[in-house]
Amino acid sequence: MKRSVEEMAARFTEQAADYDEEKGAEYRACAALVIEYADPDRDDVVLDLGTGTGAIALALAPDAERVIGRDISEGMLDRARRKAADAGIENVEFGYGEFRDPDVPTGRAVDVVTSNFALHHLDDDEKRAAIRVMAGTGARRIVLGDVMFFEGPDPDEPFYNPDVDDPSTVGTLVEAFTDVGFAVVVAERVHDQVGVLVAERIGSGDEVPGAE
Ligand SMILES: C[S@@+](CC[C@H](N)C(=O)[O-])C[C@H]1O[C@@H](n2cnc3c(N)ncnc32)[C@H](O)[C@@H]1O
Repeated sequence: MKRSVEEMAARFTEQAADYDEEKGAEYRACAALVIEYADPDRDDVVLDLGTGTGAIALALAPDAERVIGRDISEGMLDRARRKAADAGIENVEFGYGEFRDPDVPTGRAVDVVTSNFALHHLDDDEKRAAIRVMAGTGARRIVLGDVMFFEGPDPDEPFYNPDVDDPSTVGTLVEAFTDVGFAVVVAERVHDQVGVLVAERIGSGDEVPGAE
């Protein structure tokens, strides 16, 4: 990460009040695809990492048994909790959790992991570690919407802020999923620098390399 977890959290807490109003077309398209591909069953538990103000978590809650939203920014989490209360959504729980240590309650099985527009804050090695943690939850499906390079980054028109963001190529992400026993079955390009990957577990999950 180009900023410490604490700096990143403070940055998002500062933005939390206006965050939901500032969304562009690519973000909205990406979020809609993540929600569509997550497609939880009624008895599924969904883990949404980098949940922010809960856009994905709250949209999936009506279709799932439970949604666990994790983020490092208390300001973003506060807004997510308020939105859940306002909407009367009770099967979602928002709390502190980092990509590489999401603090899933002990004994809680996770079926689907989602993450939208958040993983690009980590560098390639950190993303690989985060994807290994996602696989280690036992989930059968991981849906990642994010800034990612389908082609070379365009330095004149970056879709991201090079000072704080660190997007990967689609190839690096696909390799990271493959390394932990997942097959990327969908790679949807929303923009040259934005896309959605859907990864499905191959086999039972007992054999996830490095999973705890
Ligand atoms: C651009 S927002 C996206 C929020 C939400 N997923 C959405 O679709 O609106 C990125 C979020 O990632 C969180 N984040 C950044 N680094 C993180 C990390 N290492 N672990 C967990 N969350 C992180 C930020 O606090 C922020 O809420």
